[in-house]
Amino acid sequence: MSKVLVTGGAGFIGSNLVDKLVKDGDQITVVDDLSMGLIDNLPQNKQVKFYHETITNHKFMKSLLIKEKFDYIYLLAAVASVADSVARPYETHQVNQEANIYILEIIRKYHLKVKKLLFSSSAAIYGSNPELPKKENSIVDPLTPYAIDKFSTERFVIDCGKLYGIPTVAVRFFNVYGPRQNPKSPYSGVLSLISQAIMHHSTFTLFGDGTQTRDFVFVDDVIQALILLTKKSDIVHQVFNVGSGEHVSLLQVINTYEIIAGVSLKIVNRSQRVGDIKNSYADIDKLMKVGYKPIFDIYKGLKLYWESLKN
Ligand code: NAD
Ligand code: UD1
Repeated sequence: MSKVLVTGGAGFIGSNLVDKLVKDGDQITVVDDLSMGLIDNLPQNKQVKFYHETITNHKFMKSLLIKEKFDYIYLLAAVASVADSVARPYETHQVNQEANIYILEIIRKYHLKVKKLLFSSSAAIYGSNPELPKKENSIVDPLTPYAIDKFSTERFVIDCGKLYGIPTVAVRFFNVYGPRQNPKSPYSGVLSLISQAIMHHSTFTLFGDGTQTRDFVFVDDVIQALILLTKKSDIVHQVFNVGSGEHVSLLQVINTYEIIAGVSLKIVNRSQRVGDIKNSYADIDKLMKVGYKPIFDIYKGLKLYWESLKN
């Protein structure tokens, strides 16, 4: 049994991770301010302790870290909307970077013996670099406050890890989808918005011509990667892409979803979003070399996602 901290654990990826950790028999602490996460995403289980708190509360985070002495720490809390970071750059910076660096500072200062700390970065850091697929050593071009915070925190986590002997690792998620992705904001992940439109027979707004491609990775594959990278003690101070290794156009995804759900999606066309990346897909060789094997292609993943929504 390990003691695990998941910041942002009531959110989409975080709560799916919590489910897996519960199955593994771990003792889990979740810190989430519920700005996007939902308390109902968390299992009612003695293994899970929940704090409705912001990670920017230094006093709280300091005493929690010193008191609990976690074995593993997953830093998932973030204002995950790129558009929100453009609208509120300073506030989102406090969450997406500063609060995470403070956590590292407490670990360093109080010599806390974590077995692994994992930070969740994003494919957004590659920005407009046209190189495909994106490799971990591809040129980065972070174009928004969100991407800048993700890249600098990723570097901080890795280099502080090296400097102060803290076992750290960082992951760059591509387009994650699956159960519990929250469609509440217009900037939510596209598959949560398509799902919502299908469920409620409402209209989906398609930005651009739909030929833009993404590497959509099902959340269970992401959890597989997270567990792998934290449990392997020899993997430290490195960054890994987390994707499916495949890329599909938005139109292909919509067609596949229509077949699975047996409905025709109502679409309204709008011009391409400002700053939208045309094509994105991950080179996942580095992750595969350490044992990652994505199980879900887009059909299998969407089918499971649709079944979970119907239930
Ligand atoms: P999410 O919004 O569902 O999860 C983030 C969680 O953090 C939410 O539950 C939210 O309430 C919480 N949170 C926000 N601000 C907080 C604060 N100040 N204190 C405590 N909790 C706070 O998003 P997600 O898709 O699960 O993303 C998880 C992580 O993965 C984020 O760091 C995100 O940037 C990163 N990421 C996600 C994707 C994707 O495709 N979903 C892609 C790249 C990176
Ligand atoms: C997503 C993530 C971002 C992450 C990046 C990494 C979300 C919300 N954003 O950005 O955090 O850093 O992947 O690869 O998960 N679209 C529509 N209609 C809509 C919504 C979107 O046509 O209503 C289009 C977008 O214009 C875009 C595509 O769908 O071309 C995907 O959009 P989105 O799900 O927002 O993801 P990214 O912008 O790729």
